[in-house]
Amino acid sequence: MLGRKVPVVTFRTRVRDESVGGPNPFRWQDVSSNDYFAGKRVVLFSLPGAFTPTCSTYQLPDFEKLTTEFRALGIDEIYCISVNDAFVMNAWGKSQGLENVKLIPDGSGEFTRKMGMLVAKDNLGFGMRSWRYAAVVNNGTVEQWFEEEGYSDNCDSDPYGVSSPQKILEALKSQKIAA
Ligand code: BEZ
Repeated sequence: MLGRKVPVVTFRTRVRDESVGGPNPFRWQDVSSNDYFAGKRVVLFSLPGAFTPTCSTYQLPDFEKLTTEFRALGIDEIYCISVNDAFVMNAWGKSQGLENVKLIPDGSGEFTRKMGMLVAKDNLGFGMRSWRYAAVVNNGTVEQWFEEEGYSDNCDSDPYGVSSPQKILEALKSQKIAA
């Protein structure tokens, strides 16, 4: 993946818009991956599902808490992507009280498939989801890659280690020291 461009896809997001009125004032907003990645150095992390235990207890909250450290190391944004629709991702973000990490709904799995990271999780009744990975993406090009071991369909475990925010911070710090 190193040196490769992230795929160009359109994400279908839901945004609040008071002009819609009523009890649920949200509308669709298409956002291109170019809008997320062009001209920025970002950390992207991808996980098997919103509201799942490891993602909700450790991975997402830890990225959220460590945002200041990432920014100090030249990261402009932190994106969390999952093969979940915009309604689910928005509900997850609200339940987590997110202020820093931005959630990207890859509901159809197109981005994840084109990244080569789509796996079957039929053993859990999940359908197609993302293998867990993270990347530092600089202006749309993958600069650093952190993929959990054992990429496979219907994996009976859910490894989480190398794509943790702590590991990515370590890599960014050693890159800075070496520079
Ligand atoms: C977890 O994050 O703990 C998890 C992810 C996928 C399936 C089951 C659990």
